[in-house]
Amino acid sequence: MSQCCPMNSASRHIILIGLMGCGKTTIGRELQRTMDLIFSDTDQMIEEQEGMSIPAIFQEHGEAHFRNLETQVLRSYLSLTNGRSYVISTGGGMVLRQENRELLQQMGFVVWLNADVNTLVQRVMRSDNRPLLHHVNPEETLERLAVERDPLYAETAHLSIDTANLSVGEIAFGIMESARVFFLDKRNKC
Ligand code: S3P
Repeated sequence: MSQCCPMNSASRHIILIGLMGCGKTTIGRELQRTMDLIFSDTDQMIEEQEGMSIPAIFQEHGEAHFRNLETQVLRSYLSLTNGRSYVISTGGGMVLRQENRELLQQMGFVVWLNADVNTLVQRVMRSDNRPLLHHVNPEETLERLAVERDPLYAETAHLSIDTANLSVGEIAFGIMESARVFFLDKRNKC
């Protein structure tokens, strides 16, 4: 029985993926509130673990080191033993490694929050903590990242939502209902 049913508390999370500015934190917080999930953010986990901000990690140790830390953090969700389900907001580059894409899918229901580049630019301009957007035209960078990463988000996600014209409540409701069907379907197959 356990062989045919790989789902346990470690694989019942909701994981949000997408480019910087797509709304992962806002939607994650809303799902935390409405679904009584624990909210977790991979960037925040890394900052706490390293005792450094993301820009400082990029500056002192480089992007490759940061990507290793991302993989370590993802693995740690699979060994959680508290039996609780989480909503996990991931850094925009989390899908770059194949290993991460596989881990994300093992962890639960993966949702890609998608938005056009103009919408993303409006949202990221409000913050200064994204090293990949320092020094260059953020619009050009986000366009390039979207071309590179959209196929990876699409390949990894169980659900994709175009967030540009939806309210936070509508997006969260859509995710909640889809996650319910996803987990029920998984359970029925066991
Ligand atoms: C990154 C996105 C950031 C953060 C880091 C790198 C990326 O997270 O992980 O600055 O490669 O797209 P957010 O998507 O939460 O801004």
